[in-house]
Amino acid sequence: MHVIEANGARLPALGFGTWTLTGDTAQAMVERALAAGFRHLDTAQMYGNEVEVGRGLAAAGIPRDEVFLTTKLWPDDHAPTRLTAAAQTSVDRLGTVPDLLMLHWPSQEVPIADTVEALGTVLTRGLARHVGVSNFTTALLREALRPGVRLACNQVEYHPFLAQDAVLKATRAAGMALTAYCPLARGRVAESEVIRGIAERHGASPQQIALAWLVNQDGVAAIPRTSNPERLAANLAAADLVPSAEEMAAIHALGRERYRICDFDFAPAWDAG
Ligand SMILES: NC(=O)c1ccc[n+]([C@@H]2O[C@H](COP(=O)([O-])OP(=O)(O)OC[C@H]3O[C@@H](n4cnc5c(N)ncnc54)[C@H](OP(=O)(O)O)[C@@H]3O)[C@@H](O)[C@H]2O)c1
Repeated sequence: MHVIEANGARLPALGFGTWTLTGDTAQAMVERALAAGFRHLDTAQMYGNEVEVGRGLAAAGIPRDEVFLTTKLWPDDHAPTRLTAAAQTSVDRLGTVPDLLMLHWPSQEVPIADTVEALGTVLTRGLARHVGVSNFTTALLREALRPGVRLACNQVEYHPFLAQDAVLKATRAAGMALTAYCPLARGRVAESEVIRGIAERHGASPQQIALAWLVNQDGVAAIPRTSNPERLAANLAAADLVPSAEEMAAIHALGRERYRICDFDFAPAWDAG
């Protein structure tokens, strides 16, 4: 699987998402995902599973520097007075320093400049190897890109039914990776005739084609989640599929629908396309 170079960070293109996985299931699935070959894990304080994700990672017995571990901090903790303490909490819960610490959603209260400066402190104190943002629009990214603190990644909802051309252009221009969450549109990709047709031609599943479409785009990573161990190998194998230019374009065209799953009253004013 290829690795994305993003302002000093090296993210394997496919990672394992852990939202909704908790307790023993979270730990067991992380171990199984690593055993299946995943080397990139995605968690967040809000998921309530950092302890179990850390335990799964430790139990898998894979050298720590071979796994890219991401966690995220909720906006309640984005004030500089709180951010470093929250980052320390993640380190304690995970039992290891995360490779990437992200702002989970933009704060509606704390100025971005202040939070980004505090992310710089997180880096100098060794509480994360890299820092990044999530659910940032192009306007928010412009504010967040400040001298002295290199952002590795912007994690946003991205799947065949939601075009992200503007955000992708902005993250690429900043040397950042774009990590696609909800890469399977929570299963909806299997309903698309276009994706099903391409899947048939490749002898693959629609889910694999959706993942292949994502990771065949420059600078794009994807973090599918499954609670089914039998799906891990298939999801990982999607990284080896290469859709044709025509197939990539046909899937890209579906994004005009602008179907968004994660939209909340605290969400920012999204980019138009
Ligand atoms: N930054 C953010 O604000 C944010 C927001 C949402 C999500 N995320 C991250 O992104 C990750 C992925 O997003 P998501 O979990 O919301 O949605 P997703 O990955 O698009 O979809 C997950 C769903 O797809 C199913 N699935 C997985 N692999 C499959 C396969 N090979 N065949 C058929 N069905 C399959 C799973 O069911 P089974 O469990 O039955 O396999 C599950 O219901 C999350 O876990 C989380 O880490 C981040």
